[in-house]
Amino acid sequence: MGLQFEPITSTIGAYVHGAAADMVEEGNPEAILAALNRHNLLVFPQVHMADEIFLQLTAAMGEKHDNSVTDDGTSASRKGIFRIALDKDDRTQREFILGNDYWHMDGMSYPVPVKATLLKCESAPVEGGDTGFANLYAAYDALPAERKQRLAGLRVGHCLSASLRRLYDSPTQEDFDRWDAIFPRLEHPLVWTQDSGRSAMLIGSTANDIAGMDEIAGRELLDELLDWATQERFTYRHKWSPGDLVIFNNPGLLHRSFPYTDTARRVMHRTTLKGTEATGASAPAQVATQSTGY
Ligand code: OGA
Ligand code: MN
Repeated sequence: MGLQFEPITSTIGAYVHGAAADMVEEGNPEAILAALNRHNLLVFPQVHMADEIFLQLTAAMGEKHDNSVTDDGTSASRKGIFRIALDKDDRTQREFILGNDYWHMDGMSYPVPVKATLLKCESAPVEGGDTGFANLYAAYDALPAERKQRLAGLRVGHCLSASLRRLYDSPTQEDFDRWDAIFPRLEHPLVWTQDSGRSAMLIGSTANDIAGMDEIAGRELLDELLDWATQERFTYRHKWSPGDLVIFNNPGLLHRSFPYTDTARRVMHRTTLKGTEATGASAPAQVATQSTGY
């Protein structure tokens, strides 16, 4: 069956209407990918897709990216699905999920960031736990011309500790070593102009510093750009119902979860597609030993 796409706001997102099994019918994964490139974010309200179809759709849309760090021994994880929930014993896993509460782009630890993330709601949060999305193309386009000129040529260092240090009052050297082993500093261009001709700013929680700029001035610029990009006019906030599926075009937006606790019983199933476009990151000084969700 043909699918129907219905825009959500004028800057971001489209609803996809159809049954779960329709999504993997011939021609539809390609139509979904094209709509994803156009709208940046797709919401499939209460489509109730079984894991098997979810995995089929992932495979039909591109090459699946596997995360070793996110393997938690659950049945979802044995199928190659990352289960996002706060009931984890592993400290790094828990930190990863808590760190999702800060605006970020996935895959900043790679010179080729992941293409798309698919999130399926298994158990909707009783309280909190919405997910927000901010269109980085629209945010960059709307910048004043002189601001764009000032950003041209700047480079930005990303690392896991820039994000996760915020979870603690005083993180230890052991914490930094653990985070650096997963995602050491990698330098990207601050403005990533993609093959489509659109440009996204590589900012968010993993952005640590602007290369060659004073630490405080770099931080101020990153904070200013983040405030700009996450204005209401560029964003959409999704409140989850059971069975919802969301797919986002990772190179074109920032996303975050809104805080929730273990008692909200929020469970998401996630798969990720490998990227195909390099940002122009420098060769990593240190090669990450584990693949990560970030
Ligand atoms: C992710 C992520 C947000 C959420 O899986 O990369 O940021 O709302 N998830 O769970
Ligand atoms: Mn994420």
